[in-house]
Amino acid sequence: MATFEYAPAPESRGIVTLEKSYGLYIDGAFTRPKDTFESINPADETVLAEVSQAGRKDVDKAVAAARRALEGPWGRISGAERGKYLFRIARILQERSREFAVLETLDNGKPIKETRDVDLPIAAAHFFYHAGWADKLSYAAGLGSPGTVTRPYGVVGQIIPWNFPLLMLAWKIAPALATGNTVVLKPAETTPLTALLFAEVCQQADLPPGVVNIVTGDGTTGEAIVDHPDVDKIAFTGSTEVGKAIARRIAGTSKKATLELGGKAANIVFDDAPIDQAIEGIVNGIFFNQGQVCCAGSRLLVQESVHDAVIARLKRRLQTLRVGDPMDKNSDLGAINSKVQLDRITSLVEAGVAEGAERWSPECTLPARGYWFPPTVLTGVSQTHRVATEEIFGPVLSVLTFRTPQEAVAKANNTSYGLSAGVWTEKGSRILWMADQLRAGVVWANTFNRFDPSSPFGGYKESGYGREGGRHGLDAYVRTTPAALTTGASR
Ligand code: NAI
Repeated sequence: MATFEYAPAPESRGIVTLEKSYGLYIDGAFTRPKDTFESINPADETVLAEVSQAGRKDVDKAVAAARRALEGPWGRISGAERGKYLFRIARILQERSREFAVLETLDNGKPIKETRDVDLPIAAAHFFYHAGWADKLSYAAGLGSPGTVTRPYGVVGQIIPWNFPLLMLAWKIAPALATGNTVVLKPAETTPLTALLFAEVCQQADLPPGVVNIVTGDGTTGEAIVDHPDVDKIAFTGSTEVGKAIARRIAGTSKKATLELGGKAANIVFDDAPIDQAIEGIVNGIFFNQGQVCCAGSRLLVQESVHDAVIARLKRRLQTLRVGDPMDKNSDLGAINSKVQLDRITSLVEAGVAEGAERWSPECTLPARGYWFPPTVLTGVSQTHRVATEEIFGPVLSVLTFRTPQEAVAKANNTSYGLSAGVWTEKGSRILWMADQLRAGVVWANTFNRFDPSSPFGGYKESGYGREGGRHGLDAYVRTTPAALTTGASR
């Protein structure tokens, strides 16, 4: 268990032991909880724990601890030593993966089979992958070109969303630590618990105090991190609106930012596509994590000649989906993360119907308590409908049609976003042509929603800038300096 300055009776929920209230994790220790808010289970609206709302003074302390660590022991150790910490964290995440999966499902509402089989393995994989980079930064092309050395960027403020709480933490913390930075991370206010459990992992791994600091709170805590004069870089994942606000706030400062924002991906099905495989790809593309995924395949573009056949098969497949208790390993869809998000989804779908779309859902009985939305297909959608242009971030598929590959490209690119896209066809040459034409950071071919730490992820246009993962993801966390101007070798 973590060392708490203050520890009221913990409550056991199977493999997970929850404190009644949590403080912040600053300089290697938990503070006494104060000014708390509740984190609830969206599947039944029960309170899981109280969590501290960090104010500007708390953020000051966290940033000061991160600065001390950067200028102290952490800043002096070699890349190989940093790599050992990352390997250690990765292994602890694997060892404690059941505990993390259960806690994530309780706090977020997503099905246990997704936290267990997707979120946890990929989170651990990110630490393993970046552990491998820690002592090889000078070999990362573009980072350590001849005559240059790489330095950590400094103290990094990281603000993450609620849809993949632990996974987004791993995407942010692993590259930052591999490159020698120190971190102040804020989880989303509706899903803070796995980040606090991760703080225990940092203690267990003997990570020096101050290297990772976790401050919980809402957008005002995020603003305090963004505004802090001693934070060198901001890494943000969340809404386009907040991403733009952050870019405005740091304009004119020396702070650097990477922004991973929304999406409205086209999942494009041609008439020669392997239909059974495509149906699975459509389902995974939009119903994985209840569609609360920035790269979700939320616009199905289907070639007109196969529209009716694809929709009929899709509807048959959706009748087999199980919506319900996220802790049941047989559930395919769990709860929507918050009442606010449920209301947003509901009002956008209503707007779609008012604009002329036809709404369909399979028969399913939703639990009486909690935040639930059935898997939904909207057909007869036109490009100008709000459901074709705005990010719904829910289990809602908007269906459009096209006749030619050129029309598919034009419709797919007709969005203010550009994060991802999917192409389903037997023709290799068409895949290559489409991938070249689509303005999307990731284009999947005959698959969807596949993630790997070695593959850079990020967007065009209003989907943000900067890349996470792969060698490109390291760029955002280092400063490259001509060797002649430095006194030490690259770490
Ligand atoms: P949000 O962008 O408000 O929240 C994301 C994170 O930013 C949270 O940690 C939040 O506390 C923090 N934050 C909020 N305001 C801030 C500010 N002014 N300065 C600094 N940090 C701030 O997203 P929200 O309201 O939770 O979801 C709204 C919509 O955003 C969703 O319906 C969805 O369309 C989109 N979204 C996209 C995500 C993605 O992965 N690209 C993730 C979450 C939401």
